[in-house]
Amino acid sequence: MKWMCSLSLAVSLALQPALADVKFGPHPLTPEARDAYVTDLLQQMTLDEKIGQLRLISVGPDNPKEAIRDMIHKGQVGAIFNTVTRQDIRAMQDQVMSLSRLKIPLFFAFDVIHGQRTIFPIPLALASSWDESAIKTVGRISAYEAADDGLNMTWAPMVDVSREPRWGRVSEGFGEDTYLTASMGRWMVESMQGDSAADRYSVMTSVKHFAAYGAVEGGKEYNSVDMSPQRLAQDYLPPYKAALDAGSGGVMVALNSLNGVPASADSWLLKTLLRDDWKFKGITISDHGAIKELIKHGVAKDPQDAVRIALQSGVNMSMSDEYYSQYLPDLVKRGVVSRADLDDAVRHVLNVKYDMGLFNDPYSHLGAKESDPADTNAESRLHRLEARDVARKSMVLLKNRQQTLPLKKSGTIAVIGPLADSQRDIMGSWSAAGRAQQAVTLLQGLKNATAGKATLLYAKGANVTDHKGIQDFLNLYEQAVKVDSRTPQQMIDEAVATAKQADVIVAAVGEAQGMAHEASSRSDITVPPSQQALLAALKATGKPLVIVLMNGRPLALVKEDQQADALLETWFSGTEGGNAIADVLFGDYNPSGKLPMSFPREVGQIPVYYNHLPTGRPYNPEKPNKYTSHYFDTANGPLYPFGYGLSYTSFKVSPVTLSAKTLTGNGKLEASVTVTNTGDREGATVVQMYLNDPVATLSRPVQELKGFQRIMLKKGESQTVRFPIDRAALTFWNARMQQVVEPGEFNVMIGLDAVRTEQATFTYR
Ligand code: BGC
Repeated sequence: MKWMCSLSLAVSLALQPALADVKFGPHPLTPEARDAYVTDLLQQMTLDEKIGQLRLISVGPDNPKEAIRDMIHKGQVGAIFNTVTRQDIRAMQDQVMSLSRLKIPLFFAFDVIHGQRTIFPIPLALASSWDESAIKTVGRISAYEAADDGLNMTWAPMVDVSREPRWGRVSEGFGEDTYLTASMGRWMVESMQGDSAADRYSVMTSVKHFAAYGAVEGGKEYNSVDMSPQRLAQDYLPPYKAALDAGSGGVMVALNSLNGVPASADSWLLKTLLRDDWKFKGITISDHGAIKELIKHGVAKDPQDAVRIALQSGVNMSMSDEYYSQYLPDLVKRGVVSRADLDDAVRHVLNVKYDMGLFNDPYSHLGAKESDPADTNAESRLHRLEARDVARKSMVLLKNRQQTLPLKKSGTIAVIGPLADSQRDIMGSWSAAGRAQQAVTLLQGLKNATAGKATLLYAKGANVTDHKGIQDFLNLYEQAVKVDSRTPQQMIDEAVATAKQADVIVAAVGEAQGMAHEASSRSDITVPPSQQALLAALKATGKPLVIVLMNGRPLALVKEDQQADALLETWFSGTEGGNAIADVLFGDYNPSGKLPMSFPREVGQIPVYYNHLPTGRPYNPEKPNKYTSHYFDTANGPLYPFGYGLSYTSFKVSPVTLSAKTLTGNGKLEASVTVTNTGDREGATVVQMYLNDPVATLSRPVQELKGFQRIMLKKGESQTVRFPIDRAALTFWNARMQQVVEPGEFNVMIGLDAVRTEQATFTYR
């Protein structure tokens, strides 16, 4: 694979503009050498140069190239984001080297969330693979392509645990579970940073959004978060910690407030927890405009106050900075902000630049000018094979009545729906450096797979939405959603006429890319009405109906579940999405994805998540009782539970075997099951282990994921899957905020989703 090729690290500095007397490397990449180097550099810096290092800005109307050149000249900028070509990056680094006094290299950052030039499935889809090697492939290739574009840092992974499908940013995260999200975050950091963020094809990660952004009240974007310290520590913080333990060099500070304190003003979060308790040595970066927003949050009275609070609370670098540059000089001169606090923030910025190897070679991620790609978007820069493989692994089969799937590559297939041929939508959110023109749509993927074997007919059938207000919202900055000039009825009529000529209908419905993004909360998470009307008309034809869902969040799918003969969740599957979906639909790949978030039946049930606490009056569907915890006007529980996903084969899980009945102290115990492929084809599945502490001083969740393994079994094959259990898996934060294990009985549940599990009991002493 291309990303494995090792190109020469050394770029002859002689080729670059003169470096004057700045002490460029080689410097050993050790903390001691770094501290000495940075201490020396800090002593040479003026106040303005120090403040300049805290500024992260992007080229745009507020900061045109000329203005940035001037700032670079004066040492007033520390890093750049949103510039993604080697030519543009090189031009700015050249300016640093030729114009600035100290020649402190800039670093360059971007949102590389699920790929750079090659777009992989959105993170929520990646989480559906539950597959370490797939995630690491995505991380390595993303880092390779980003570094090949000259970037040094990515704002990823996003590990905000979320139980809120209304929140558009669930598309960027890894779902509702702490353990799964922590695993994903750790693998992303390990694979993106590699052995060292200084390596030619690594980028430094910046885990986000610290902290608990995924718990915004009501799923409403930018809303506040209020939660118990126990829940925060137990459920929301571990994924950030896991990413930091894996070595993430950066942390992006969240926009939300937590228990009344905006994250950028939270010295407990950014200093006590992050630095003192977790020993984080990297850099903290505010999110876009967050320092200014402290005024609107109501914790700062004016800009000076906001700057003082942010810096003193531990925000090192200011993204899209306006305020640090304007107000910090005076605040420091007046002694309102101490020079020690300023130096501390600057030191963190210089430290990460050192760790990125920029003081050894400011052009380390650029290479020689002659090596710049002639065409940034060249097809040869993409990693299509890997993208297709990961996309197939991320799809979740939700329903398959009477083996409707896999389809045969023969006869006539009607491909219908507003998302069936949309290159833009299949890319998903945060795919800015990827090109929609290079994406394979479902229609194209089906054509590729059936060429010469089956007849394909196509009709759009509906607009993604007919709601004018939503169309305007989606098209606010660009023509993201094309609205057909025909009436809805004309489109449906065409689709029905098309469907009637076919043996089977494949209907691609769901959300436009912009519906599951930042700033895109929905109060209604059903398939939009225009597409529901289309599905109803298609259903009425009586033809087998395969619904292919494209969306960035769990949807409420009761109707679609009833209508569909087969239902495949494909999320937003990226550059190779169409080919990957075709692989699954035709059985060239046997689906193995499992849901990383529960799918509710309807919005009114939210939050619906599997690891909830017990109540004093649990509802039992087999023995319904009025005075129990449930909604009386709907079925209870999710439509599809956490961990759920079907296969074209079937699996049987044996009862749980325990290696011992008692776990003592720091010992280990093993829980195992034997899984058998009882169907008639090879297939992969994910074996999930949950624990439950039925009696403790605090109510503990009814179950919590504590282990999983993805296995591949041939037809008829069995495999014993073993899960080690140790003390750490049993700990929780008690009422006094101590992390403890309380001796007693524990339940272990193992299955292929969170609901259908085999159970055993052991004792911890
Ligand atoms: C988002 C961040 C993102 C940043 C830079 C912000 O609006 O909240 O997640 O990294 O923009 O693009």
